Amino acid sequence: MSQFLPTAPYRGTRDFLPAEMSVRTQVFERLYEVIERYGYQRYDGPILEPVEIYEAKSSREIVEQQLYTLTDRGDRRLALRPEMTPSVARIIAGNAGRLQFPVRWYSHPNCHRYERPQRGRVREHWQVNVDVFGSDSAACEIEFFELIHDLMAAVGATPDMWVLRVNDRVLLDAMLTGVVGIAPDAVRDVAGLVDRWEKYPADKLAEDAAAIGLTDKQFDRLGEVLTGGRAVLDEIPAEVRERSKLVQVMDSAAGELVRFDPLIVRGFDYYTSTVFEVFDNHPDNRRSLFGGGRYDNLVGLYSAQRIPGFGFGMGDVTLFDFLGTHSLLSEPRAEIDAVVIATEAELADPARTVAKGLRGAGVRTSTPLDIRKLGKEIQRADRSGARVVVIVGGNDWAAGTVTVRDLRTGDQHQVTPADVPARVRDLLELGPGTA
Ligand code: HAM
Repeated sequence: MSQFLPTAPYRGTRDFLPAEMSVRTQVFERLYEVIERYGYQRYDGPILEPVEIYEAKSSREIVEQQLYTLTDRGDRRLALRPEMTPSVARIIAGNAGRLQFPVRWYSHPNCHRYERPQRGRVREHWQVNVDVFGSDSAACEIEFFELIHDLMAAVGATPDMWVLRVNDRVLLDAMLTGVVGIAPDAVRDVAGLVDRWEKYPADKLAEDAAAIGLTDKQFDRLGEVLTGGRAVLDEIPAEVRERSKLVQVMDSAAGELVRFDPLIVRGFDYYTSTVFEVFDNHPDNRRSLFGGGRYDNLVGLYSAQRIPGFGFGMGDVTLFDFLGTHSLLSEPRAEIDAVVIATEAELADPARTVAKGLRGAGVRTSTPLDIRKLGKEIQRADRSGARVVVIVGGNDWAAGTVTVRDLRTGDQHQVTPADVPARVRDLLELGPGTA
């Protein structure tokens, strides 16, 4: 055994070094910007929650196989949040009296699920959650579908790269019971089968179907319904169809934003009608990018007030897989503009004063912490992405000036320390500034 502890992070979790963090931040900032453009406000909550909030209504798979649980020193059973929806429902219920509905909120929590790490699946992921509370109108759903299109455009995706697949659980129930002839008490199991339809081979699906009591005829009919697109809607009674917000959306101009797909179920108990998933169209990455839906009764676990919810969670792993597959990732951006270098230890104080002046003028500036050869220091500054070095030293300093060098062009000028901020801002094309 090695005498050292392992440096790798815990399986299924990731360290983010600054270069990667920079790429991630650029993407997230674009998402936040679009979400805020729609008037959504950011909130947050604790990573630890009472385990009951997931047991009460979530997904069987999450509760039985994926929760990270612990008992605290006071014998309370807690879980690391596997998702944000139960938390936000709790927060909304607890604060409903002082909120003005509809509430438009977003957050960016890290979530933990004990999964087998594989492409698109890890044990700690970051999930942008966007939700509306207090509206059950079709307009609310249209707003989300438009927002999703804007988010995808903001990260550089064109409409051919992805598809927004939608379904309605009420319609699905009607399809399963009315069209396929499944008994109402088997609907939940069959919905689980539908959820696995694209992931499992045909013989395994047939085996599972038989195990939950489907006849061969029902299984064949189910296959036709699930892969037949919108055709099945005509077989659903008009009064069921008319109640569906999703049908209203599809019949409006916004219908072009979505594709009806009976295969979309989503594995959570709390969704009550519309459900959706965004899929990558790329042949190398045909998988779900993110998903969500309408959950009209979740807040009801915490209070008597009926507050419907609608929203989605977009995970970082699947999003970055998508961006990587379509070559949409940007370069890390430089985190520093200027480096002020003292050529000898005695000049460290004036160099710090020059650096302070630059920072005061809004220029991101660093100073080396040790004195090294000037050439080496300039190279390091260049590699760190700085555009400008300011050299404090030698005869120039004795003559009351410092050297400002543009690292892109190699041009350099002697300027007085007082003029450094303006000159550097000029080189960085930052405008005159306020300093
Ligand atoms: P979910 O489909 O379980 O939904 O997760 C949403 C997204 O989070 C997934 O599409 C995926 O991008 C990401 N994700 C989930 N689990 C993992 C994992 N193990 N590794 C990497 N990424 C993962 C929900 O969580 C719902 N609460 C979303 C929601 C919000 N519905 C309404 N509002």
